[in-house]
Amino acid sequence: MACSQRDLQGSKLGTYYVVQLPEPDDFAFWRERARGLVQCDVPPDWVAWVEPGGSGNLFAHGERRFPLPDADAPSVRASKRFLKLARNAALHSDPERFALLYRLLWRHQSNPRCMEDKADPDVRRIEELDKAVRRDSHKMHAFVRFRQVEDGEGGEHYVAWFEPDHHIVRANAGFFMRRFANMNWSILSPRGCIHWDGQTMRESGPAQRSDAPDGDPVEDLWKSYYASIFNPARLKVGAMLSEMPRKYWKNMPEAELISELIAGAQAREAGMVSAGTLEFEERPETLEAIDKAIHQCRKCPIGELDNHAVMGEGPADAALMIVGEQPGDQEDQKGRPFVGPAGQLLDEYLERAGIERRETYVTNTVKHFKYVQRGKRRIHQSPAAKEIDTCRWWIEAERAIVKPRVILALGASAARGMLGKTVSISKVRGEPIAIEDGSELWVTAHPSYLLRLDGEARDKQAALFEADLAAVKERVAELTG
Ligand code: URA
Repeated sequence: MACSQRDLQGSKLGTYYVVQLPEPDDFAFWRERARGLVQCDVPPDWVAWVEPGGSGNLFAHGERRFPLPDADAPSVRASKRFLKLARNAALHSDPERFALLYRLLWRHQSNPRCMEDKADPDVRRIEELDKAVRRDSHKMHAFVRFRQVEDGEGGEHYVAWFEPDHHIVRANAGFFMRRFANMNWSILSPRGCIHWDGQTMRESGPAQRSDAPDGDPVEDLWKSYYASIFNPARLKVGAMLSEMPRKYWKNMPEAELISELIAGAQAREAGMVSAGTLEFEERPETLEAIDKAIHQCRKCPIGELDNHAVMGEGPADAALMIVGEQPGDQEDQKGRPFVGPAGQLLDEYLERAGIERRETYVTNTVKHFKYVQRGKRRIHQSPAAKEIDTCRWWIEAERAIVKPRVILALGASAARGMLGKTVSISKVRGEPIAIEDGSELWVTAHPSYLLRLDGEARDKQAALFEADLAAVKERVAELTG
């Protein structure tokens, strides 16, 4: 053993080398200690890595003096990739991070290529830590906002408050120093603070939110800047929330405007359309143009999911338009409405009622599949009222082109898409509802509702569904006959 302290062969139980880290982000200190331990052949489970405020005393009974490697101890192996990831992972708030790093360093000595095994749990974990820390740093670069304060000597000082998830403040000092080299600034955080006076960087301990100033003219500047660059037609709520999580909003002056701007986005967009400043948002005048446009649609968060818009299909002059809720998993994959289980059931009942599907225009009120991912499965989620209302833009464009005499809405979402308000199916089914464009709306249950029932309940609903289709068939014949 290349080590000056020869009493290392203790039992694993109760025998620890406790390494107290002076700072939670002190990678250099960890590295130095870890090298010494590896050179002295100390296995990972003999070492407890304790950061400030951590539970070092737990191990005190078994603590040993720190071993010192001999001058001729073998050099320590570590791949470049490991070192790159380790530097970031050391900043993570996971209390196990230094133990993980030591375990990986230890494993490098017998297997220098251990980082190449992507399925290895340690390798996966260090990658996760690295990713989380990089993301946190990105947030810090993007969301730190300075407020101007008097420095007490007639000069200007800028102060920002930021709440990182990990120990990233010190590591990012250089970024802010370069970007705001000529300003006096402080970044306060519950994990420690950094201060720059134009020449030197200083650190101080953790701060509280109340230590940082609130509004000042810098806020107004940010707000008017943000409102002026905000383009409602490019609003992607899902992307915005993932890039700018709500927890940062309270520190960002312009965030006060976010809800207002989102809420007003549709109105502003409509204004831009009528003012002619938003040409691509003019209502498309052919079914092909709608098909193209819905694939770009990100008016609501459903369009941000991993899905494809599904266009209606059928003759552009059909007398009957059948409207469903939204494409399902199979429709999303095949790019056609009503081709999955609910579609097959619908086809069966249409045939029984004597309605030719190929003479009918079949579409959906919401154009994208809304789902939650559970393992490999995508589970259907009903669209929210707001999402249906947002998507009405497209179904109205289809109606304006097809001009059906009769519209059959399948289920409550489709009915809302047609009427702009929620109705109870049991109250409105069986009778036509006149709509402004001269067509008439009939409402019935969605076939997927039948699929979820069995026994008597299903028989009852199936009979009602059949009767609704028969009435629609008759009405279309009357109006077109
Ligand atoms: N359900 C619907 O509402 N529409 C489809 O296209 C498929 C299932």
